[in-house]
Amino acid sequence: MTSPENLILRELIAGEPGWVSGTVLAARLEMSRVAVWHHMEKLRAQGFAFEAQRAKGYRLAGRPAGLHAALIELQLKVRPRGFSLVVLDEVDSTNDEAARQLAAGRTAPFAILARRQTRGRGRLGRAWHSVENGNLYASFAFRPRVPPERMQTFTLWMGVNVCELIANFTALTPGLKWPNDILFDGRKAGGMLTEARIDADQIRDLVFGLGLNVNSPAADWPRDLIRRAVSLSELTGAPLDLNRLTAALIGRVLLAYNLFVDGEHTKTFADQWNRYDVLRGRQAAVLEAGQRHFGTVTGVDDEGALLLREAGGRTRRFRAGEVTLEKKDA
Ligand code: BTN
Repeated sequence: MTSPENLILRELIAGEPGWVSGTVLAARLEMSRVAVWHHMEKLRAQGFAFEAQRAKGYRLAGRPAGLHAALIELQLKVRPRGFSLVVLDEVDSTNDEAARQLAAGRTAPFAILARRQTRGRGRLGRAWHSVENGNLYASFAFRPRVPPERMQTFTLWMGVNVCELIANFTALTPGLKWPNDILFDGRKAGGMLTEARIDADQIRDLVFGLGLNVNSPAADWPRDLIRRAVSLSELTGAPLDLNRLTAALIGRVLLAYNLFVDGEHTKTFADQWNRYDVLRGRQAAVLEAGQRHFGTVTGVDDEGALLLREAGGRTRRFRAGEVTLEKKDA
């Protein structure tokens, strides 16, 4: 974090929207102005651009579009003690890498981000399309030490928080489809995959994976996804600042995690979920353990289970399952 390039970025970001004089930069970095210029060349090679004026100094005029570790770290509003962040060019799956690093003893919490995944995974053994295209592939690793029953609400709680963050950041209105999809008008913009190792009476460690379609152009989707997937930039009509969004997202996920560990979320999360729930009031089929159940979704309960009211009036609770909307209603 404390390379000369990162120090230059820190000074210029702290000085925004103003200028930082070359003399001040050189003094803060304790090096000559020529040496500062040399390090700025390295930053240019990473995709940064600088404006320079003799009387005023320097300011940032362009940032790399892709994930950049220092740019994310410098834009984190809060940084819990011990938190660390890794940005990889390529990995099989950020969830798998996070699990490997947990097993190797890395201090949690930490986040693993990748520009592309070669074996991105979704729920129910599905693949997650993970080419390098301005989208986000992120996994957060924790050691929560809470009872395993609490797990049921975790992904839903995170979903609510990710949606609130997206809504604040973009002014878009996302929807949630139980248990782990982030949607806009029926098209998927994000998916969550939570995986945990559980001891007898508590969670040993937990990985929260989030794939979020941020900046991929519509034309980039493979044929089978083109009608089902959407990116945030397709909806806003302009590319989003991926590193700023990622920094905001990390802050939100870490905050939400703390509330989860304290059990603070249990009172409110079902109401919050219901605000974004795209299934509520809809005719749906739930496939669970090879059996299909039909009815009207009435929401989720305090334990995160999906509630389905059947034609006869009985309400079934589902702790797992795959929901599809019935054709006549879809
Ligand atoms: C789903 O919708 O089924 C969940 C998709 C989760 C995808 C993310 S991308 C980052 C992390 N790494 C993975 O391999 N999967 C999750």
